[in-house]
Amino acid sequence: MSAKEDLLARIAAKSAVIGICGLGYVGLPLSLRFAAAGFRVIGFDIDAAKVEALNAGRSYIGHIKDVKAKGFAATGDFARAKEADALIICVPTPLDSRREPDLSFVIGTVEALAPHLRAGQIVSLESTTYPGTTEEELRPRIEKRGLKVGTDVFLVFSPEREDPGNPDYDTRSIPKICGGSTPDCLEAGVALYSAAIDRVVPVSSTRAAEMTKLLENIHRAVNIGLVNEMKVVADRMGIDIHEVIRAAATKPFGFVPYWPGPGFGGHCIPIDPYYLAWKAKQHGVEARFVELAGEVNRAMPLWVIGKLEAALRERGISLARSKVLVLGIAYKKNVDDTRESPAVEMMELLAARGAKVAYSDPHVAVFPRMREHKFDLKSVALTSDAVASYDALLLATNHDAFDYKALARAARLIVDTRGVYLEPAPNIVKA
Ligand SMILES: NC(=O)c1ccc[n+]([C@@H]2O[C@H](COP(=O)([O-])OP(=O)(O)OC[C@H]3O[C@@H](n4cnc5c(N)ncnc54)[C@H](O)[C@@H]3O)[C@@H](O)[C@H]2O)c1
Repeated sequence: MSAKEDLLARIAAKSAVIGICGLGYVGLPLSLRFAAAGFRVIGFDIDAAKVEALNAGRSYIGHIKDVKAKGFAATGDFARAKEADALIICVPTPLDSRREPDLSFVIGTVEALAPHLRAGQIVSLESTTYPGTTEEELRPRIEKRGLKVGTDVFLVFSPEREDPGNPDYDTRSIPKICGGSTPDCLEAGVALYSAAIDRVVPVSSTRAAEMTKLLENIHRAVNIGLVNEMKVVADRMGIDIHEVIRAAATKPFGFVPYWPGPGFGGHCIPIDPYYLAWKAKQHGVEARFVELAGEVNRAMPLWVIGKLEAALRERGISLARSKVLVLGIAYKKNVDDTRESPAVEMMELLAARGAKVAYSDPHVAVFPRMREHKFDLKSVALTSDAVASYDALLLATNHDAFDYKALARAARLIVDTRGVYLEPAPNIVKA
């Protein structure tokens, strides 16, 4: 039996062991999905605290409640990679200080796995990255071990499409793109993912799969940039952009509503587009929409603070002496993820201008450890006395758990960046 036939048989029989490297927002739900589909799953992570928490049955991700799954165990011991028939890599792909791709986590993982690779394994990269990463960075590191991609090891790129907090879709029901280094790699990848995911969509190469993910995220970044620009234009003209978008969205064809906000956040939309822009430059082309959307979206926190400052000034209060309560510090509603959150960026801007900043977020009890931000704060309980004690509330993230009517009754001023308040009121300013 060839290595591929043996692997396909093990997948079909569910005797294949699945190794997932990186047990974060992507890797943890994927581990639980494969375990639920009947596979034994080994989760690898370099963060010993996460490994310990998972093995004790504790989740560290708000929307994932139950991590006790039969057949799933976490470890920090990469030598156990040889036990796995599939190795799926879900580690971070951030930007460095020059806004260029930082592949150190991906390369670190592949190098940690390499000594333990053997014939008959699938290696799948899921981390969002530029077209060419799988062929240029993974393939040579695997082949250096004397294993031939396509006959010994089956290499694929299959991007993650998580939408944390979305009740309509989960890991199983979100269709999964898969591209292989060779036709046999693709066949193995499709077989692997089809065993746990309802619909797998094959594409012709790893590069097409890498680019598909980037197009999806760039599409969002550009459209969010467009509505944010329209918001600034409409505001100058005294028009409510939310009313306009709601009206335009009644067109039954050819218009898709995107909603403006205080910027963009999360681990994907503010970051991934630059992976393409960087690679495009190497090919001698400019990804101009990517750069422009980034510029517009990154300018939003400062624009919102300008609106807040003007609203306070009209009430005879200087920003430097004001007390501001930021509502919601997660990057989007109903999640606890604060990565790249524009709310946190606005907290920094407020603090730098001398304002006394506090926050309230039902999903983030204590201000988290973040690489570039440090606030020694706890979420403020929203009693009407507490709300009334602030000069302004800055509504940054529209969590469903907030009682918006009660807030509007108690607050002296609300600066609404999410279009929550449709009716004009003397204490509400849209930004
Ligand atoms: N969060 C999302 O909604 C989402 C959606 C689609 C795609 N992605 C992409 O998926 C990838 C992972 O994102 P995430 O949100 O899961 O990140 P995350 O930070 O939540 O998790 C990454 C995990 O990898 C671990 N890790 C880091 N280096 C490692 C190594 N060398 N070996 C093993 N584990 C290591 C970290 O400790 C962490 O637990 C990124 O490329 C991201 O762009 C994320």
